[in-house]
Amino acid sequence: MPQKFQQLKHSKRFSKSSKKWLLRQVNDQFVERAKNEGWRSRATFKIIEIDEKFKIFKKHKIVVDLGCAPGGWSQYCVGKVGEGNVVAIDLLPISPIVGVNFMQLDFLSENASEKIIDELKKIKHNSSGLCDIVLSDMAANATGDQNTDHLRIIGLLEEALNLSQKILKNQGCFVGKIFQGGSSKEILNLLQQNFLSVKYFKPESSRKDSSETYLVASGFKGHESEKIKIMI
Ligand SMILES: C[S@@+](CC[C@H](N)C(=O)[O-])C[C@H]1O[C@@H](n2cnc3c(N)ncnc32)[C@H](O)[C@@H]1O
Repeated sequence: MPQKFQQLKHSKRFSKSSKKWLLRQVNDQFVERAKNEGWRSRATFKIIEIDEKFKIFKKHKIVVDLGCAPGGWSQYCVGKVGEGNVVAIDLLPISPIVGVNFMQLDFLSENASEKIIDELKKIKHNSSGLCDIVLSDMAANATGDQNTDHLRIIGLLEEALNLSQKILKNQGCFVGKIFQGGSSKEILNLLQQNFLSVKYFKPESSRKDSSETYLVASGFKGHESEKIKIMI
């Protein structure tokens, strides 16, 4: 057994739950690969897999990355769509990524959507303030209670969809993280009302023991639509 693993296992510095998380990280092939390949997070492999399957990112597309910290998804996106075309948002600060416009912002706060639109308008040839792709890998801090975590992520997804209603171009695309649970069907219905195609996708790099999965919606039917405002 590696020494690092043994040290962690017997360390008194960490709480039981932190130790569990750290041991999982030490044992995880995607954590190792992310380090070796220069990605900021193991989560990067999830967006890579999503892109391999759904071919979302193309040169010059404009992306909004909600809940971007530490920045793995943004790092990948900017390589695909080009510098200047990614607006990345998080509650937490991140170290800068070349070509990514970062906003430290609670996207649920008042006037957040106006601030995001202003940032999108600063992109060259994008006076409309709209974008092609909205990503949400957002998650509130886990409580450990599956139902509570599910409901909290549904709330974030719902808000991310409301924002998409304001900022997505027609035919745009939405990718959102969800923890499976009782309200998944409602969010699926909501997406189906607003997008031509909606698919569930669980990347290989998403932990098997987690109820996490992703909703990939493409062909946004139009930002004038009021359909998305139907509340769950
Ligand atoms: C799983 S991490 C994202 C990882 C990221 N995709 C990557 O590859 O580096 C989820 C992020 O969502 C952010 N988040 C949660 N609620 C948010 C909110 N209301 N506004 C902005 N960011 C939020 C958290 O701060 C956290 O950094």
